[in-house]
Amino acid sequence: MRFTRRKLLTGIAGVTGLAAFAGIAGRLGSAAAKTGAGYPTAPQPPAGADIVDVDLMAQIRRWQFLPSPAGESDIAGYDDAPGFKVIRLQHGQWLRATLHNALAEHTSIHWHGIRLPNAMDGVPYLTQAPVQPGESFTYEFQPPDTGTFFFHPHCDTVTQMGRGLSGILIIEGDEIRKSDADIVCAYRDWRLKPDGSFDAFMTDKGAATAGTFGKVATMNDTLLPWRSEMPAGGDIRLRILNLDVTRIMEIGVEGAEAWVIATDGNAIAPIKLDTWKLGPAMRLDLILRAPAQAGGKVQLLNYFAAQPVLLAELTASGGALDRPAFVPAPLKAPQLAALDLAKAEPLTLRLSAASSGSAADEKQLGNKGKPGDIKLPNGEILHLADALCLTPNTLWVLNGVAWPDRSHKNLPPSLFTLARGKTYVVEVINTTSRQHPIHLHGHTFQVLDSNSEKIIPHLSDTVLVAPNERVKIAFVADNPGSWMIHCHIIEHQETGMMGYFRVA
Ligand code: C2O
Ligand code: CU
Repeated sequence: MRFTRRKLLTGIAGVTGLAAFAGIAGRLGSAAAKTGAGYPTAPQPPAGADIVDVDLMAQIRRWQFLPSPAGESDIAGYDDAPGFKVIRLQHGQWLRATLHNALAEHTSIHWHGIRLPNAMDGVPYLTQAPVQPGESFTYEFQPPDTGTFFFHPHCDTVTQMGRGLSGILIIEGDEIRKSDADIVCAYRDWRLKPDGSFDAFMTDKGAATAGTFGKVATMNDTLLPWRSEMPAGGDIRLRILNLDVTRIMEIGVEGAEAWVIATDGNAIAPIKLDTWKLGPAMRLDLILRAPAQAGGKVQLLNYFAAQPVLLAELTASGGALDRPAFVPAPLKAPQLAALDLAKAEPLTLRLSAASSGSAADEKQLGNKGKPGDIKLPNGEILHLADALCLTPNTLWVLNGVAWPDRSHKNLPPSLFTLARGKTYVVEVINTTSRQHPIHLHGHTFQVLDSNSEKIIPHLSDTVLVAPNERVKIAFVADNPGSWMIHCHIIEHQETGMMGYFRVA
């Protein structure tokens, strides 16, 4: 079976997919069951708050994306201009972003990596009602941390993000010594055919393996390599974002000594860059000194390939800036609750392949043929199932929970319920033969160590876990609500590798 969205949209939603999503709903447990409009709410900005207003019109627009003779492409975006919408705020400002949905299906915005109130997290059915075509929704929050973030939808992500629907959110104010240039380098692939039309966003083979790769690679939505200038002799900050839905990269720099100053937007004591792996959704901030000589070049490369791939080339221009000898300046550290590792509670998150994707019992779903509500054992109804949020097949599971193997009376337990304010150490165990970038919503964690790689402890919201690797991450569960935890290879996410945890 080839599972395309079209199949889902025409109403032939695979029952196994419904089962998979119901499984996740079950893990959520009854405490977070949404009966009707019981979504969380968020605080309003106080009087006098410094608010940045942004309108985001999610829409498909036809662009000449590939050079002719290719035709125009139906690209989804938040803005009338091609390329990423980039929102920059100063730390302390509020963002008031109004999403208008001009797509043909529902959408929402998840603000990846931002520790915001649960109500603003943008997960349909979990934190808000989906924003239907023609509707609007306003997100209002004050980002607590500085750094390099991004935003994207959270249902049918493989198609919506695959068509281009994502944007960049930068919270400024972390530089102790101001850089001379602040350059965004956002990578993604496109599943475009030579004629400019899109190929299938999801394939059964891809979903079951490393994901389906795009054929057109871009940096800042420009065919590789992206070229730009930088002030000669200046301190250059690069904000590198892997916004692809599939591809894992290994970032390196040639032509200058680059230092890592932030991981997933969070300051780290500067470390000299050798190479650094970035799974989908991961970010890396670098600082480097541009050559003093105009015309000098610095190259950004991806080493996670048979041959290094040139991603971007920056050329020094203008008269050399008069700067003292290069010392990579640290950024201001984020204000996170201190870990209490001595009293931390250990948890395990096991990533595995589903043993079977076809054992669903239609009757247990009680809504044959059409996605609908899920009845929990306590009688509550979870209005969760919907063709756009469903996966048509279960290929991956978290903590061995394979819904189809369970009867309705025996729902899988919620993935985790965490006590607010407590420190948790989660051991993420990858029993599969694929890498998985695992993302937690609403929290920033410390990557502590790994059984197979030497880890430089750093802060993240997404951690890449290799086959047979066990990675320990730690965080304080200080943000109340229901939060997604999932693989950010979107085809893995949408075929079962996702769940929720609750902080109560
Ligand atoms: Cu960027 Cu739930 O993810
Ligand atoms: Cu994965």
